[in-house]
Amino acid sequence: MERLQKILAEAGFGSRRKVEELIKKGIVTVNGEVAELGQKADSKKDDIRVLGKAVSINEKVYYLLNKPEGFLCTVKDPYNRAKVIDLVPKEPRVFPVGRLDADTTGALLLTNDGDLSNQLLHPRYHVKKTYLVKVAGKIKPEDYRRLEIGIQLEDGITLPAKANYIKSGRDWTVISLTISEGRKRQVKRMLKALGYPVLTLHRQKFGPLDLGKLQLGQYRSLSKDEVRLLKESARD
Ligand code: URA
Repeated sequence: MERLQKILAEAGFGSRRKVEELIKKGIVTVNGEVAELGQKADSKKDDIRVLGKAVSINEKVYYLLNKPEGFLCTVKDPYNRAKVIDLVPKEPRVFPVGRLDADTTGALLLTNDGDLSNQLLHPRYHVKKTYLVKVAGKIKPEDYRRLEIGIQLEDGITLPAKANYIKSGRDWTVISLTISEGRKRQVKRMLKALGYPVLTLHRQKFGPLDLGKLQLGQYRSLSKDEVRLLKESARD
């Protein structure tokens, strides 16, 4: 038995707060009776409906994909361009947790666990993401500190981060950057603000998940331990 809020959030009806609203509105039924907030149900046995429509409960799947360049993190694309969901099994349907830009490569989680996805994306939990960033120019020593302390962007100052030199050439530098927010194009904007355009961007780690030997375009299912660690990272 699980709380109805959790079952509905996992089934993709929105955050736990949002599904509480659905229950309060009286549009959720369990075995024909209007559900109450806090009620528990068995998603395998009970007939759970929202506005009369049966809620489909799939087995939860979790994939880690090494996203190649050129693939979009959307579920639908009006121009029929290549999408990350084309690289993993079609059934049960999964969706990417957050977004990587089309030209960004690396670790991307895909799942049908809407509840966990909402939690991982919630700004409160500060799930860490590590990027390998190649920029144009030689990064000045003081700029590592600026990246770490916080960069003023249009949508506010960035949270403390970790920046480390990896290697450099005549007119480029590769660093690793660990951030704990997920704002749109955040890494590119942070480096641009310091005068270094990003040439390539690759996500090495997402929370506790590491790509390991996974090649670009390949995916694997998460182990039970990884799912547990992931759930822990999305908790207070
Ligand atoms: N930051 C970016 O700028 N782009 C990404 O794809 C991910 C993080």
